[in-house]
Amino acid sequence: MRATTLPYRPNLESLEPGLDLAAGIQKLRRERRAVILAHYYQEPEIQDLADVVGDSLQLAQAAAETDAEVIAFCGVHFMAETAKILNPEKVVVLPDLDAGCSLADRCPPDHFEAWLQDYPDHEVVSYINCSAGVKALSSIICTSSNAVRVIESLPKEKPIVFAPDRHLGRWVMNQTGRDMVLWPGFCIVHEQFTAKRVAALQAQHPGAKLIVHPECDATVSRMADFVGSTAALLRYVAQNPDRTFLVGTEVGILHQMRKLRPDAELVPIPADSGCNCSLCPYMKLNSLEKLYLALRDLQPRLELEEELRQRALRPLERMLALG
Ligand code: 13P
Ligand code: SF4
Repeated sequence: MRATTLPYRPNLESLEPGLDLAAGIQKLRRERRAVILAHYYQEPEIQDLADVVGDSLQLAQAAAETDAEVIAFCGVHFMAETAKILNPEKVVVLPDLDAGCSLADRCPPDHFEAWLQDYPDHEVVSYINCSAGVKALSSIICTSSNAVRVIESLPKEKPIVFAPDRHLGRWVMNQTGRDMVLWPGFCIVHEQFTAKRVAALQAQHPGAKLIVHPECDATVSRMADFVGSTAALLRYVAQNPDRTFLVGTEVGILHQMRKLRPDAELVPIPADSGCNCSLCPYMKLNSLEKLYLALRDLQPRLELEEELRQRALRPLERMLALG
């Protein structure tokens, strides 16, 4: 269950006729003393307007550091909720409150709590793609950027449970050599990348570098030349002299990749052939229109009970303290 939020739905019909959306957003951003944070999976026009574009870790760090009065979070619910956990006194808006995440939505805190009863001695490491309720039950949070570092920061003798992404968990187990009990969650976008589809694409692009997000399943990750978070994939493409990259993550990432490597051929998996499997349906719920309304109306807001917020804050701060 998601945290308490006000019952608000964006009313697109209330947009002023003839409005220049980009100019309107800039004006409201100044008037509201707002910061716009956007994930790499957002639509290009949102990324281009944002103050900070980043992966989950960079955006959580930006949320922790901002002195803005309003945070307009262009991402999904757990990201905006994280910003609220870190900033109880600020207004945090998410342009579309229905922007969920299959990982967070399929790990309800009550089921998670019951499941944890079997592992009373374990450290509970949760991927940031989870609700405040799950964070509150965790020892420490991680993102795909720092998951290996987070696991390595835990005492070797401590048994670990990892939730909610089994693929990221499996990848971290391989990287660290640590055994972990995995909650069986997955991302509906990255699960679409099958070894068969990847092999077909490799046959069409011999010599291309295959780069994938660790939310992909183990067979696909094993085939890859590089596995990393969205920020790490961008760095890899920027620094690697190769000319063709097969990209195994949500296609929104291509916007920044093209800016970094306009000379490179960037091939999303699956190939751009009319199939939308590599679009995150949640990320794509946000739009410039809804961002404008969110800044104008300061709705829909993230709200959290203080006791839950404080319990969710502790494991987040433990992660942020790792740098
Ligand atoms: P990153 O932290 O790598 O940006 O991942 C976020 C996400 O939701 C991946 O699907
Ligand atoms: Fe969640 Fe997957 Fe969408 Fe990322 S891409 S927000 S993990 S559903």
